[in-house]
Amino acid sequence: MTKEKLIRGNIVHLTGDPSVLGAQALQTYEDGGLLIRDGHVVAAGEAKTLMASPEAQAADLIDHRGCYIVPGFIDTHVHYPQVDIIASYGAQLLQWLERYTFPAEIKFADPQHATRVAEFVLDQMFRNGTTTAMMFATVHPASVDAVFEAASRCNMRLITGKVMMDRNCPPELMDTAEQSYEDSQALLDKWHGKQRLHYAVTPRFAPTSSEQQLALAGRLYAENKGVYVQSHVAENHAEVSWVAELFPWSRSYLDVYDHYGLLGDRSVYAHCIHLDSTDLERMHETQTVAAFCPTSNLFLGSGLFDLSAAREYGVRTGMATDVGGGTSFNMLQTASEAYKVTQLGGNTVTALQLLYEITLGGAHALSLQDHIGNFEPGKEADFVVLDPHATGLLGRRIDHADTIEEKLFALIMLADDRVTRATYVMGNSVYSSDT
Ligand code: GUN
Ligand code: ZN
Repeated sequence: MTKEKLIRGNIVHLTGDPSVLGAQALQTYEDGGLLIRDGHVVAAGEAKTLMASPEAQAADLIDHRGCYIVPGFIDTHVHYPQVDIIASYGAQLLQWLERYTFPAEIKFADPQHATRVAEFVLDQMFRNGTTTAMMFATVHPASVDAVFEAASRCNMRLITGKVMMDRNCPPELMDTAEQSYEDSQALLDKWHGKQRLHYAVTPRFAPTSSEQQLALAGRLYAENKGVYVQSHVAENHAEVSWVAELFPWSRSYLDVYDHYGLLGDRSVYAHCIHLDSTDLERMHETQTVAAFCPTSNLFLGSGLFDLSAAREYGVRTGMATDVGGGTSFNMLQTASEAYKVTQLGGNTVTALQLLYEITLGGAHALSLQDHIGNFEPGKEADFVVLDPHATGLLGRRIDHADTIEEKLFALIMLADDRVTRATYVMGNSVYSSDT
């Protein structure tokens, strides 16, 4: 048993979905505290009340007054091996993969390179307040070991897996259906359920997998309880047409995955831009999750994800950076771009909804809501300390705002990594702007 910690600051978290509960979903304690024992939340409440409680008497007091304390952010789709090609000029998806992405991923044949990059990326996530991610590695099994080991060292919650890719890619990145099945099973047996780590069966996208490989991916998903599936669907028009050529029998791109048993309540598909109503109904029926990747969708010119259609059809959603197609590791910036995308569709998402999507909503998207996403007693103490006066402009705007909703909205629109004062995983500091 470790010593209790009492974190003092402006506690802000959501107890449920604001689209259902309205403003009642928000719980705040302006002079508040978070009492933590053994990496878990004991209570969130008024600082005065908590400080008077018997549990808090011997606690270490950590003073973050003047800052917001919010649950750690959840990135539901990101590629750690693509950090070195973030912000690469002038291509849409299929050319971008060939010109920049595949060459970068070939370098992960070297396990030392993989370890160095994995550590750099986790550090980037922490300095942006992200404490949980669903992440692509590369086709190399050692790239999965490297990032699981890095996450394991800081006890981070991470979902990742080996890319399965047996056609339409450079030979250095090509596996075979059988080998990818065996390698995935071995990695899954080694890592899934260890500490806070989970395995995701990871067929890159339909064009780079044979039918046999997709069938084996479906088998891995069916045969291993609690594992996830992560992939891409309906991101780009040329990609959608290519899938129709490669799988002429399919009704749609999504239907290819459906055919091989790759939809389900632990399946997360990035993009989901060019889907029709039958696809959306099928996503709802199977409880498949759509990862909304606004910075990537804009940067690669892929299109505008329709969040309100997803809502209307009852499709589960998460928010994601999709680095290196995406241009920022910061989930507040990602939420800000999501807001602008929905504005283009004639809809307006509230600050509470945006905060929900990157915290408790993300936890629901990854079926991790019993562990993370808010400060309910018993949850894991992953949280981020945000300084609303980190920049002159943000401080000025926040001081000019009257309500907490207005302040949170300005924070989301104007934030970058300078706003992160500190990040904690299981109650332990993994990043501080002071050091
Ligand atoms: N589709 C297949 N692979 C990728 C990838 O690495 N990034 C994005 N954005 N889309 C993909
Ligand atoms: Zn992606």
